Amino acid sequence: MKIDGLRYPLIIAHRGYSARYPENTLIAFEKALESGVQMIELDVTLTRDRKIVVIHDETLYRTTSGRGKVADYTLTELKMLDAGGWFSDRFSGEAIPVLTEVLTLAGGRATVNIEIKPEAYDPRHPKDAIERQIWRMLHHRHLLTDVLVSSFEAEILAELARMTPKPNLAFLTKGRTDTGVFDTCRKIDAFSWNAHYRDLNRTRVENAHDLGLKVFAYTVNAPDDILALIDMGVDGIYTDDPTAVDMDLRCG
Ligand code: G3P
Ligand code: CA
Repeated sequence: MKIDGLRYPLIIAHRGYSARYPENTLIAFEKALESGVQMIELDVTLTRDRKIVVIHDETLYRTTSGRGKVADYTLTELKMLDAGGWFSDRFSGEAIPVLTEVLTLAGGRATVNIEIKPEAYDPRHPKDAIERQIWRMLHHRHLLTDVLVSSFEAEILAELARMTPKPNLAFLTKGRTDTGVFDTCRKIDAFSWNAHYRDLNRTRVENAHDLGLKVFAYTVNAPDDILALIDMGVDGIYTDDPTAVDMDLRCG
């Protein structure tokens, strides 16, 4: 789905349909897509052999059958783990996806928000740095202007901002309400400011809009909070349960 064609406010499936399916797995993304959302969000980091995998935590304990750090294992080793059984026996056998699998699944059905985890950042900027690999992957798939790449790590975004064509970028923040946030957004010519929802109020949203930024709020699961944020003027909401949201909002 083209970013230009999105209708706001967006309902964004956080780690897929993670309220009912194991987060960041293909089943969670498939179910989110079936719910009709216009955007799905996922988290990526690097394996020991520098492949891009979709997983939120730096370690394997919470969401897989593995132990230790993701970065200490090769992709082949990680693919043998169970990434669904922790959630429910029904999902035993779900694997950790690689980014290309999710991009293929989403196809023209929804826009993908790729969040690059800070632990994957390498200040030496090697040729196979995660942001460079992602740029090449998106370029090859003609997706550079049709995804949103976000990160809490401003240096990752700055690297991507130097590339041509530049992907749509989002600066992620938590507990930040200072004007430095907008300085970073300006520097990277951000598409959006992705803020923790408790950091937002009407004035901050308006200030962001005045700078030409969209404002996306994460992670909001209570229907009252979602409505309050939409009333505040935010352009998108990350939620674990997209079907709890009114159908008209979900599908734009
Ligand atoms: O991108 C919004 C949200 O996903 C950021 O926080 O911890 O859920 O990745 P987290
Ligand atoms: Ca995330």
